[in-house]
Amino acid sequence: MGPNLNTAINLADFEPLARARLDDNAWAYFSGGAGDEITLRENRLAWDGLRLLPRVLRPLQSAELGIEMLGRRWPHPLLMAPMAYQALAHPDGERAAALACAAQGAGYVLSTQAGTRLEDVAVLVRDEPGRGPLWFQLYPQADAGLTRELMQRAAAAGYEAIVLTVDAPVSGARDRERRVGFRLPAGVSAVNIPAGASPVDKDWRAAAPTWASVESMLDHAPLPVLLKGVLHPDDACQAAALGAAGLIVSNHGGRTLDTCLATAHALPRVADALQGAVPLLVDGGIRRGTDVLKALALGATAVLVGRPLLMALAANGASGVALGLRLLQDELLMALALTGCDSPAAVSRKLLQG
Ligand SMILES: Cc1cc2nc3c(=O)[nH]c(=O)nc-3n(C[C@H](O)[C@H](O)[C@H](O)COP(=O)(O)O)c2cc1C
Repeated sequence: MGPNLNTAINLADFEPLARARLDDNAWAYFSGGAGDEITLRENRLAWDGLRLLPRVLRPLQSAELGIEMLGRRWPHPLLMAPMAYQALAHPDGERAAALACAAQGAGYVLSTQAGTRLEDVAVLVRDEPGRGPLWFQLYPQADAGLTRELMQRAAAAGYEAIVLTVDAPVSGARDRERRVGFRLPAGVSAVNIPAGASPVDKDWRAAAPTWASVESMLDHAPLPVLLKGVLHPDDACQAAALGAAGLIVSNHGGRTLDTCLATAHALPRVADALQGAVPLLVDGGIRRGTDVLKALALGATAVLVGRPLLMALAANGASGVALGLRLLQDELLMALALTGCDSPAAVSRKLLQG
């Protein structure tokens, strides 16, 4: 008998189901991190290490998960993180993932390295009532004209924001991928950018974005731009001063610089420095409703979830992703109720010990 979706009662349960379906090539790409995978592990451990100090007997009759972000109300604070080449997980790839997110009211962030045209994903979900945010993740391209063109295409297609990833001028040293000799299977490619345009194909030293190039992107952007991959409070302040609409505290899920700070530890420092100047999001190792609650307590408005939703996609396509998001929403509502909070907005740092 093959893996049974009914056995998934939490996000971790998708991992063995996915492993049974994926070859070594895709498995190394999805689950690996950089170097010795210290940051990959610590992202998880950092959430686990935080202790909650709940309140009791507070009214919960109107308990709900809705949030306000970038001037709009959304069903809950969960988004699927941008992840490249989702067809490696399932033949329906980005289409299945985006549809599942929309059906569950979760945000979907399409990667620059998606294997599906950005217009084709947007048209599937943009008119879906009750969906979450629809954002396009942008790797700054060596050619500034191409970067601008991608932003224009995203705006025309109906995406609501650009997520500019700034923590990966080069890929990290991903040993697992090198051990299996990772390569994209035939038929999977980054169809939204011309072949050979990626900075890693060119001289990345010249192509690496800088504050000056980011400032010019912010000036030309047809949509609000969030910077993804910020850990240092000084960088966060500089980004907000330049006009970033929001920041995503992220270390790329431990896939770029190994031994850098876990995001649960970076988030409160960034939140303290920014003092609410722009919305903050966070990702890396978020697996449980209590992890989401802790992120909210440390100053995040919303969170992104990466690998577990890819595993869910591999395990059972769109229904796997939808189930994963459902399980996480249910856990979050329980965590809120058990800490005496009737909404994400009611969560504060006082819920954390110390
Ligand atoms: C297979 C894979 C591909 C990824 N591709 C991208 C990408 O194209 N752009 C990007 O900004 N981040 C990318 N990321 C990083 C995720 O957006 C996110 O920061 C990270 O996965 C969150 O950590 P988690 O997987 O522990 O939840 C990728 C992550 C994984 C696992």
